[in-house]
Amino acid sequence: MIAPSILAADFARLGEEVRAVEAAGADWIHVDVMDGQFVPNITIGPAIVKAVRSATQLPLDVHLMIESPERYVDAFAQAGASTIAVHTETCPHLHRSVAQIREAGARACVAINPGTPANAVREVLDSIDQVLVMTVNPGFGGQKFIESTLRKIEKVRGWIDKGGFDVAIEVDGGIGPETIARAARAGADVFVAGTAVFGTADYGAAIDGLRRAARG
Ligand code: DX5
Ligand code: ZN
Repeated sequence: MIAPSILAADFARLGEEVRAVEAAGADWIHVDVMDGQFVPNITIGPAIVKAVRSATQLPLDVHLMIESPERYVDAFAQAGASTIAVHTETCPHLHRSVAQIREAGARACVAINPGTPANAVREVLDSIDQVLVMTVNPGFGGQKFIESTLRKIEKVRGWIDKGGFDVAIEVDGGIGPETIARAARAGADVFVAGTAVFGTADYGAAIDGLRRAARG
């Protein structure tokens, strides 16, 4: 699965950009929500998610990089999110937060920063649909892939396979033709790419190239 991140899109032409990556073969649209607290940057809210919802048929993969995300889960689900990711670093009651996402009708995803141990997701693997292993420190697009996250992907993949859980592993940050191959080998199956898609002139060629590289 390739999920272009609209963080790297031209916001003045957001509808067009989303339609362009859909036509270019994207599987999901990744939406980065930032609050200026959990991460330094501020991006978008439910109103923009709703607008993106009306521009595409693709599932919206909404990544909440915000403090106390439980305050906004319902609003993003109502705005049309298919998947909602919360960070373990913001959820003292993680089990409750992921239950809230499912009750709101969305797929539940749990995200972990590069400095957070894999263990943070282990006890909820039977209650979620996806783990998001951050491969950069969240906040900005265009950063360098952090190599040590590969071991963490392998570890989570091992637990999922051993436990027989129906849980996808998503990676986000610094994903390009070279890093995607290694993340795929480590066990990831959903790949977020901002710069590597929207930073190119030909979205179709970029997405095809990523998909080919991921298959190895
Ligand atoms: C980073 C965001 C990413 C970002 C990825 O905080 O979560 O989704 O858009 O951008 P690239 O692919 O450029 O690293
Ligand atoms: Zn993201």
